[in-house]
Amino acid sequence: MQTVRVELGKRSYDILIGFDMLEDIGPALAEHGLLSDNMAVLTSPTIGAHYYQQVRDSLERAGAAVVDRHDIPDGEDNKSLDEFCRAVRRLAQFAPNPAVRPTVLALGGGVVGDLGGFAAASFRRGVPYVQVPTTLLSAVDSSVGGKTAVNLPEGKNLCGAFYQPSLVYMDLATLDTLPGREVRSGVAEVIKYGAILDADLFQYLEESIEALIELDAEALTQVVPTCVELKAEVVGEDERENAGVRICLNFGHTIGHAIEKAAAGALSHGEAVAVGMVAAARLSVQLNLCDSDVEDRLSDMIERAGLPVTAPGLRLETVLDYLRHDKKFITGANRFILLEDIGAWTCREGVDMDAVRDITRSVLL
Ligand code: NAD
Ligand code: GLY
Repeated sequence: MQTVRVELGKRSYDILIGFDMLEDIGPALAEHGLLSDNMAVLTSPTIGAHYYQQVRDSLERAGAAVVDRHDIPDGEDNKSLDEFCRAVRRLAQFAPNPAVRPTVLALGGGVVGDLGGFAAASFRRGVPYVQVPTTLLSAVDSSVGGKTAVNLPEGKNLCGAFYQPSLVYMDLATLDTLPGREVRSGVAEVIKYGAILDADLFQYLEESIEALIELDAEALTQVVPTCVELKAEVVGEDERENAGVRICLNFGHTIGHAIEKAAAGALSHGEAVAVGMVAAARLSVQLNLCDSDVEDRLSDMIERAGLPVTAPGLRLETVLDYLRHDKKFITGANRFILLEDIGAWTCREGVDMDAVRDITRSVLL
């Protein structure tokens, strides 16, 4: 097992990474002072069917008096205010004794983790929670860093809080049951880390991307802790994304989000971000920030990962419209995370909209 620490003063926490660890989650929580008499597991029907029993057995063996399961239905549409209300009300019914502080366990991907984290942040003004990620995306990204939220009809992640978990417990064996498309969605975020922050990671991916997609244990052991360390460092420097560092994680997400919305469900988040990363790299070349070799290496990597480099069929004006309404644009000048090299990001504001339009058009062909 590997341990990565997120250093945030009093809010510091460990990320435990390994294989076949679910059956030991009870003792691990006890060791970290997180085993409550009331253990509230938030999960989903699909994920719970695979992994809840193991978690429950382990918690009970370790001495938890009551373990409760509450399911958030699968799918991004359920990262909603309605499901948030159901989850916090369930917590109120399950843990009515003010003398017993429940621990929330978010067992699932980013949907369960984001909603579960926000429920933990809000219930009784904050109870401890543990992220137990079961998707590659949640392992390398959403389970770390304390961004919790639900979507509103008015926009994604509009209602939430920065609220750090007390522990992240990452059993990579749970990825075995993850559908291939979800694996690739997570791989897009892995590629992002290499592209913006770590040339060595990117080179490793150039050598081993196929092994990673097949969830080869050695590849996961190389890649996941590296991504988690990178994210822990970024979050340690800029917990609330107001120090000009955490924004780097938005690489590929500006045009990517607009494409994701325009595609209306036809593209996964990772697929849209993949196209967004190609667009951002191309924009970087056009602005003379890097050589075309950087764009070529990134596009090759994305294609080898089985992710798209273009999103044909979407209307340019629809994508640009979503782009103009992006929260990063509304505050004034646009802002893009761009590349100076593989492993070296930079930020530019007020990029000429004609250039943005041309680049966006080029990835819709
Ligand atoms: P997800 O949580 O929707 O999970 C994807 C699908 O995989 C679901 O149908 C789920 O039931 C299924 N699944 C999960 N684990 C499984 C397993 N081990 N075996 C079989 N099926 C499994 O998707 P995701 O990609 O994990 O997360 C996406 C969400 O994460 C988005 O809402 C996004 O906004 C959020 N996110 C948050 C952050 C953050 O910093 N908080 C960062 C990135 C993304
Ligand atoms: N995934 C973006 C962030 O955590 O900041």
